[in-house]
Amino acid sequence: PLSPLTITFGPGNATLEPQGQVLTRRMSDLEGLFVDGHAWRQAVVDGDPVVYTVVSSPVPEVPRELPQSITTIYPGDTGGEFWMTKGHQHPDPQGEIYLGLEGRGGLLLFDGERAEWLDMGPGTIGYIPPGWAHRSVNVGDEPYRFLAVYPGSAGHDYGWVLAHGMGLRARRGDATVELVPFGAPAS
Ligand code: 6PG
Ligand code: NI
Repeated sequence: PLSPLTITFGPGNATLEPQGQVLTRRMSDLEGLFVDGHAWRQAVVDGDPVVYTVVSSPVPEVPRELPQSITTIYPGDTGGEFWMTKGHQHPDPQGEIYLGLEGRGGLLLFDGERAEWLDMGPGTIGYIPPGWAHRSVNVGDEPYRFLAVYPGSAGHDYGWVLAHGMGLRARRGDATVELVPFGAPAS
């Protein structure tokens, strides 16, 4: 285990200091996730933009530790579907806490039968109970940022979301976010 330490938010809440791993997810990393496969492919060809980044603290992902990360999702939509994280289940079902830092977002939760949507913004704590797959969505015009705190043994299962979906999709509506039935991706 690590020794006790403080970790601070960096400038603009974009980073953690000291910092561990930094992950960058581009459009090409999100294959098979947007319902409009044609629009997805076009976006990959048109510059393959960065959709989100994840900056981790130095706390390792091992049992009994509590790692943290800050995710920044950039604003945009692909075929009308708001930019989002891949989404995952924790193979070892354990809870997780999100804290909204900047921008406007949503937390989509799916337990295989029931889907829930939580509006997220600065100061909102979103609780993910054990056994609920989770995906974050930027529904605004600015980057959406949140802090995540999760058990180090939880793990990340991305195949579960490809197999079961997320129950709902978040689309750009007239004034606000429109939640629609999941539907299978088409290309
Ligand atoms: C976690 C958190 C969170 C998440 C990122 C990126 O369990 O580590 O839920 O840090 O990993 O927001 O989302 P994806 O892991 O779904 O790409
Ligand atoms: Ni998680």
